[in-house]
Amino acid sequence: MSSNPNQAPAPDNFHSYVMGETHLDGDRLTLQYKVFLPSFQEIMERILGTEYGLANRIEQGLKTRKGLPIRILDAGCGEGLFLYYLAGLLEQRGLFSPATVQLIGIDSNISAIATAIDFVRTAQPTRPYLEFICHDLTKPFELNPELRPMLPPPTTLSEVASEGGQEEGGGFDFIYAHMVAEHIPNASQHIKYWYSLLKPGGIIFLRDAVCDEGSNGWKAPHLALAPYLSRVFQYIKQINGFNVSEISKNWLEELGAEQVQALPLVIPSGGNSQTGLMMLRNLVMMVRNSLPQLIARNITTAEEGQALLDILFREISPECVGYGTCIDTLARKPLA
Ligand SMILES: C[S@@+](CC[C@H](N)C(=O)[O-])C[C@H]1O[C@@H](n2cnc3c(N)ncnc32)[C@H](O)[C@@H]1O
Repeated sequence: MSSNPNQAPAPDNFHSYVMGETHLDGDRLTLQYKVFLPSFQEIMERILGTEYGLANRIEQGLKTRKGLPIRILDAGCGEGLFLYYLAGLLEQRGLFSPATVQLIGIDSNISAIATAIDFVRTAQPTRPYLEFICHDLTKPFELNPELRPMLPPPTTLSEVASEGGQEEGGGFDFIYAHMVAEHIPNASQHIKYWYSLLKPGGIIFLRDAVCDEGSNGWKAPHLALAPYLSRVFQYIKQINGFNVSEISKNWLEELGAEQVQALPLVIPSGGNSQTGLMMLRNLVMMVRNSLPQLIARNITTAEEGQALLDILFREISPECVGYGTCIDTLARKPLA
């Protein structure tokens, strides 16, 4: 484990999402969604169940049908697949009513948001109530007229002094960011900001990768992949200067959060399992999708990237075996 929270933050013009310049990342995220869905389902059981009590909060909201809506926020939702899944889960369990429960996805990538909207309004119009908003998470939510009405009452003097119809808002009951915080410069500030947007008793869930090679981090499933993965992960780690996944727990504890847990999650890449095979394909797509950014930054060349892809297309097979590690951080804001 390594950390250097004192490292200078990335400059403002740093385009931090390493796969963000390519529209092809939507395909990769669909595959990544399939890889991570079972573990997301497990986390949702903990969050909905007695441990974090979200189902109970929603039931109370549905019963009383007055007061603030129950709000769930997917921060950095990409094309919205996890939010779509979550909506289905709530529906199945009788925990959804469009009048009481609001499900909101935010992403700065306009084409991801357009795809998410197109999906729920056209391709699968069964959940048209899902709200997808294009917003840069590094900017205050107050600046976005669609988000402003959802915010809790102002708490700091400068917020009190500023204009803005926040009084009708009330904040969020559950905020999650799935593989997002690590891509955002100054992640600690933003996680603290998201925490401040929770209602009392609200829950936060963050999942981020461990960027270091080794038994607590990742092992490349093919030798040729190791140097490239090392560059991609170092690029991600450099955004904040340390593994966000390893430190989020401390930030939430400092804020006085309750029930703070950091749970490691190891995902196979390669081997014979379906998850491992999907992860292998995901890694190849990661190489392809991150190439433009790494070339632009002189971290690799187009020739090197193409040579690696050629090797991978030729040699990748279930005999290649590696793994990756994420940390799931869960916490709840105290009620009082
Ligand atoms: C690895 S993807 C994860 C997407 C989705 N949460 C998932 O797990 O499928 C990271 C997402 O964060 C988004 N993102 C990166 N920086 C962002 C920012 N500053 N504001 C909003 N979204 C951002 C990217 O556009 C991308 O969709």
